[in-house]
Amino acid sequence: MAPVDPHSFTESTQPATTDIALTLYFDFPSSTIHASALFTLQTPHSGPFFLDTRSLTIHSALHADEAIPFSLSTTSDPIKGTLLTLTLSNHSSFILTFSTSPSSSALQWLLPPQTCNKTHPYVYTQCQAIHARSIFPSHDTPARRIRYSAILNIPSELSAVMAANHVTRRPPRDDDAASLASLNLNWCSQDRVVEEFVMEQPVPPYLFAFAVGQLGNREVGPRTRVYAEEGSAVLDSAAKEFEGTEEMIREGEKLFGEYDWERFDLLVLPPSFPYGGMENPKMVFLTPTVIKGDGSGAQVVAHELAHSWTGNLITNKTNEHFWLNEGFTTYAERRIVEAVQGEKRATLNVGIGWRGLNEEIERFKDNLEFTKLKNNQQGIDPDDVYSQVPYEKGFQFLFRIERQVGRSAFDEFLKKYIAKFKFQSIDTDTFLDFLKENIPGIEKQIDLVLWTEGTGIPSDAYEPELIVYKTIVSLANEAATGRMPGEDEVADWQGQEWELYLDNLPKSIEASQIVALDSRHKLSESKDYEVKVSFLQRAISCGCKEYYGEVEKTLKAVGRMKYLRPLYTALVKGSEEDKVFAKRVFSEARECYHPIAQSVVVSIFSKHM
Ligand code: BES
Ligand code: ZN
Repeated sequence: MAPVDPHSFTESTQPATTDIALTLYFDFPSSTIHASALFTLQTPHSGPFFLDTRSLTIHSALHADEAIPFSLSTTSDPIKGTLLTLTLSNHSSFILTFSTSPSSSALQWLLPPQTCNKTHPYVYTQCQAIHARSIFPSHDTPARRIRYSAILNIPSELSAVMAANHVTRRPPRDDDAASLASLNLNWCSQDRVVEEFVMEQPVPPYLFAFAVGQLGNREVGPRTRVYAEEGSAVLDSAAKEFEGTEEMIREGEKLFGEYDWERFDLLVLPPSFPYGGMENPKMVFLTPTVIKGDGSGAQVVAHELAHSWTGNLITNKTNEHFWLNEGFTTYAERRIVEAVQGEKRATLNVGIGWRGLNEEIERFKDNLEFTKLKNNQQGIDPDDVYSQVPYEKGFQFLFRIERQVGRSAFDEFLKKYIAKFKFQSIDTDTFLDFLKENIPGIEKQIDLVLWTEGTGIPSDAYEPELIVYKTIVSLANEAATGRMPGEDEVADWQGQEWELYLDNLPKSIEASQIVALDSRHKLSESKDYEVKVSFLQRAISCGCKEYYGEVEKTLKAVGRMKYLRPLYTALVKGSEEDKVFAKRVFSEARECYHPIAQSVVVSIFSKHM
């Protein structure tokens, strides 16, 4: 017996699930999904069969109407959840019926007042890293891939989208829900409708995704529509912001080979969405904060698009090799940005990333394990150690190889790598072996072990040299001597330039300088949340109380963890008064955050209070 992943009960000696057919009944008043799932196994199996679950109630396990013995473990693991054990007798398929709980960690249920149009409820998923198990029992490890189909029964005034092919929208039928009969649902009621989907390509469970709400859409390209709440202004502004998507897909194809997922649709979620973007295949999920009106949101789209190859085609085997997903994707994102927006934009991104990486190394100074690309996550919740390290150190490692072998040789290598491992889940050693095989002698030129297993930042990492970058960084450093940027120096700055400037301001800067900066450039009111949050974080650290109203407004307006983390962290590291403030705001805002974001804030509080 050997678990395949520290974050899953999946056993290497038990067969994989190849297919899952889901039937889901959405009960909005109770924030519950009642469901059944038909599992198909790779080979028949006898004896114990393990599945991951979290906060699920299991009603029955059946094979051809015969009961299969099952049990949920009486204690739950705080990270892995609750083990479901079936006792199979040469079965290669079975049906489970089960219900989710209102506290399911993957799901955010929004009441009508929490949505944009205020009239209809909304629910959406976020399954990465290990939350799919809170929607349906599964081998919830990226080491295993599944195909699935899904029948969603929802109120007829709503519509559903999934990271899968849409098959049909139709009236419910009695025979849809035979396996759910014992639950007495109003399956065929007049005010219900069924939406069917199918995912034919095998995907890791963390890429399972849906959203149900009052959704509208706009066509923005031959394989792209943007979806958002019907009637919200977001739909039009998103269509404008993302009009260059097709061009980016073509750049991705030039770099990595054909786009294998047919459609590339975009769903803009309510502001509580906990990430900037999530690479759900065929339908990327995005925070509305990426729509800034200047096309800069395209950078996040470039990132999620790049995952179509690096992450969704080649997948990290476990979260211990997460850099294979995010490092490659960050590299690819910047190549796409460079191709469509030019070298300056790409370099500023590298520079912002460089600063971020250095800050994360500081954050993990007492826990150096998480400054390694490949790290040990036994007993660790991946959401707790989420950081820029896999992104930026991963990017640095790949960029180091590019500089060694030259761009065209590296491009050729990347294409070959994708073609070789697509639809597989691999680990760091598999990548390194392939690298050494294809670029003979590389291990003599670059210390591959230091890069993948060492702590901190290797000395052959690269800080950008472009003059646009250097000018901003030295301007920020000069703030230590009291010099602030003049109007002419910032006249053409966009969000990225300000972000880079603020991130590089010395720690010693005085409160009066922060106030002066704001009265001149109105950073605390910026519509660009990257700039606003970066500024407010500084303001908190300097004890500038006049901005706490803006801090509170921000913490109540958005649920993206990239903004919640720095603001709550700055507050809990501050005075007693700051801590009380943080607690009050959280208690008032908490309901509006996704469960994953709620846990992250709780964990920030527990570390510092
Ligand atoms: N896959 C990640 C988001 C994620 C990571 C969710 C780990 C859950 C666990 C996504 O591709 C991502 O990296 N998003 C970034 C976008 C940015 C780097 C452009 C984000 O949300 O900030
Ligand atoms: Zn990513």
